[in-house]
Amino acid sequence: MKEKILIVEDEKTLREILTEFFEEKGFEVEGCETLKEALNAKSADVIILDVRLPDGNGIEAVPEIKRRFDPAEVIIITAYEREAKTAVKALKLGAFDYITKPFKLEDLLIFVNKALEKTRLKKNYEELKKRTKEIQLGDIIGISESMQEIFEKMKRVAKTNITVLITGESGTGKELVAQTIHRLSERSGKFVAVNCAAIPKELLESELFGYEKGAFTGATASKKGLIEEAHKGTLFLDEIGDMPLELQGKLLRFLEDHKVRRIGARQEKEVDVRIICATNKNLPELVEKGEFRKDLYFRISGFSIDIPPLKKRKEDIPILISHILKEIEKETKTRYQISSGALKALLIYDYPGNVRELKNILKQASLMSDGIIMYEHLPDYIKRAAPVIKETSFDKNLEELVADYEKELILQALEKAKGVKKKAAEILGISFRSLRYKLEKYGIK
Ligand SMILES: Nc1ncnc2c1ncn2[C@@H]1O[C@H](COP(=O)(O)OP(=O)(O)OP(=O)(O)O)[C@@H](O)[C@H]1O
Ligand SMILES: [Mg+2]
Repeated sequence: MKEKILIVEDEKTLREILTEFFEEKGFEVEGCETLKEALNAKSADVIILDVRLPDGNGIEAVPEIKRRFDPAEVIIITAYEREAKTAVKALKLGAFDYITKPFKLEDLLIFVNKALEKTRLKKNYEELKKRTKEIQLGDIIGISESMQEIFEKMKRVAKTNITVLITGESGTGKELVAQTIHRLSERSGKFVAVNCAAIPKELLESELFGYEKGAFTGATASKKGLIEEAHKGTLFLDEIGDMPLELQGKLLRFLEDHKVRRIGARQEKEVDVRIICATNKNLPELVEKGEFRKDLYFRISGFSIDIPPLKKRKEDIPILISHILKEIEKETKTRYQISSGALKALLIYDYPGNVRELKNILKQASLMSDGIIMYEHLPDYIKRAAPVIKETSFDKNLEELVADYEKELILQALEKAKGVKKKAAEILGISFRSLRYKLEKYGIK
């Protein structure tokens, strides 16, 4: 797309000369006679503005024009000698620079190009800011449609006190999601995590509910339970599927009335906690088998977040890699990049251990490499899953590598679908809309 110059100059001849000159240089040009006309223009990437105009002073109008066409820059043309006062005023009001009549067109072109460069940088920065905001929520990274939906759900539920159930295979980020919901909720208390599978059955009840001195042998002093620890905060019940049946009833009662009674205590105490549960088990199946209480299942599954396995959202892999490499960079003080071959193999592999596995792979591979992680540095089991991948380029950044790879996948899918776009989108597992967007982006006909 051509960049657009708006020329605001009431002197007809000069306006025409400028228009012709910049059109010849490949710009789109719109000429205006007055400030009013200029403010009504549709768009502009740079504005060349005369000072004396029929409906006002150009310099005074700089702030309004800049606001109107943000992030475009304004260059002032003035008929007077480089009068220090005018210059300072124009620059103070936000003009990019100014040029005095008579001037050489080539000099004005240099100004225009510099101004455009600045505008482009500003635009890129805005774009980048928008994008980093979209692909990250707290410490969670995800660009896939499924992760984007999860971000949306998290933001909505964080503001409430609703119990949340997070499901997903091991290593998909359940705990990270729970922590992030807590952070977003701005609850003033702590985030307390309890792994129901890791604490011996007999101890879990006293850990959760606490006990009074002398409640049982060994209870030499009274102790607060983890539920009370999480007062005004969030209690994360990890591996809830492993909670013993007897305790499930007690938990359910707590969820109903938010009161705890320490073991051996007479008094109940009201506690304000938000509960988040997680499991990698199939709870309905456990209910079916009688290993999980149906009423508890219904009580905790009102709002659930299911995190798909990484192999179902491979679009997330490249940004996860870049995020993880930055983490490794912080630890090791060494910069790491990834080669095209390694990236391709990592996109082919299916990750039974999900994001945690990807992290481990990159940690290992970074140890083997001297800065550029190549196919040969990957563990053998990945090489077996993605055999003999050729390295194609070394000087491209991750984004360019991903674009190459994505293009290749789209072309393959189109070939399989015999050119039928709808079918190709199905094969790729993306929506028709995003396929159309990508075809345009990569210029695929
Ligand atoms: N979307 C993500 N973005 C960034 N890091 C992630 C993401 N998902 C997972 N991780 C990282 O992967 C690792 C595993 O995540 P986490 O412990 O939350 O998984 P989990 O689902 O609780 O696993 P498990 O079921 O084995 O307990 C953590 O180091 C976490 O920070
Ligand atoms: Mg976990």
